Amino acid sequence: MGLFKRINYFQDSTLWIWKVEEEYDLLFQSVTLKNNSLERLKGMKSESHQKGFLAVRMLLQEAGYTDLDLYYDEHGKPHLKDGKQISISHSHAFSVIIIGDTKIGIDLEILKEKIVTIAPRFMDINHLKNLESKDQIKKATVIWGIKESIFKIKNEKGISFPDHIFEKEFNLEDSSGIAQLVFNNTTEEYCFSFEFIENYALVCALQNKK
Ligand SMILES: CC(C)(COP(=O)(O)OP(=O)(O)OC[C@H]1O[C@@H](n2cnc3c(N)ncnc32)[C@H](O)[C@@H]1OP(=O)(O)O)[C@@H](O)C(=O)NCCC(=O)NCCS
Repeated sequence: MGLFKRINYFQDSTLWIWKVEEEYDLLFQSVTLKNNSLERLKGMKSESHQKGFLAVRMLLQEAGYTDLDLYYDEHGKPHLKDGKQISISHSHAFSVIIIGDTKIGIDLEILKEKIVTIAPRFMDINHLKNLESKDQIKKATVIWGIKESIFKIKNEKGISFPDHIFEKEFNLEDSSGIAQLVFNNTTEEYCFSFEFIENYALVCALQNKK
């Protein structure tokens, strides 16, 4: 399938999604990799993870970059050499990247029933009240994605999902909302946006600079 979708987000960011249906060899032959990326690829335990990693490089090429333009800091956060902001996520069938001028975070999560069981560990379960079971799964997955996306923007040790990141009440029909990061005596406001693609939740967040 390859490039699944390209979406303009939040004014200055573009998101690219790859549906990973190719064989490993085809993906591998289609990308340029630097040596440490080759090492990382070789060290991955599953072919699914390897294909997700290669699909991210395919997306970089769609966006006019290559693996050579990408580097990681000591926490594992990706950066582009030209100073543009990037965030990356991959989950089974899809890989996504988002690139823009503003710090942005993205997360893609498969919808699984188990998320509702673990919800009390990371979110305010009042936000799942009065929902039927399939919507509880969707909303809890989105909330997980909001917290992962904000974490990816801040990239700071010590951030706890239940203790520091709080989503304001929202409805699944809204497709967007507001969350706060209360950490190190500072409160920051973020806006988030989400959609469902097949059985995945795709969430994106960026800081509200007001
Ligand atoms: C690092 C982390 C954000 C990755 O998220 P994930 O859902 O496991 O995986 P995703 O596919 O969505 O994202 C992986 C990508 O995130 C990016 N990433 C990794 N560490 C990052 C960091 N510190 N900051 C920003 N981005 C990061 C990388 O690009 C990585 O992909 P790549 O290495 O192949 O390029 C996640 O594992 C994590 O540590 N979360 C916070 C910890 C936490 O608080 N968990 C639960 C508390 S209840």
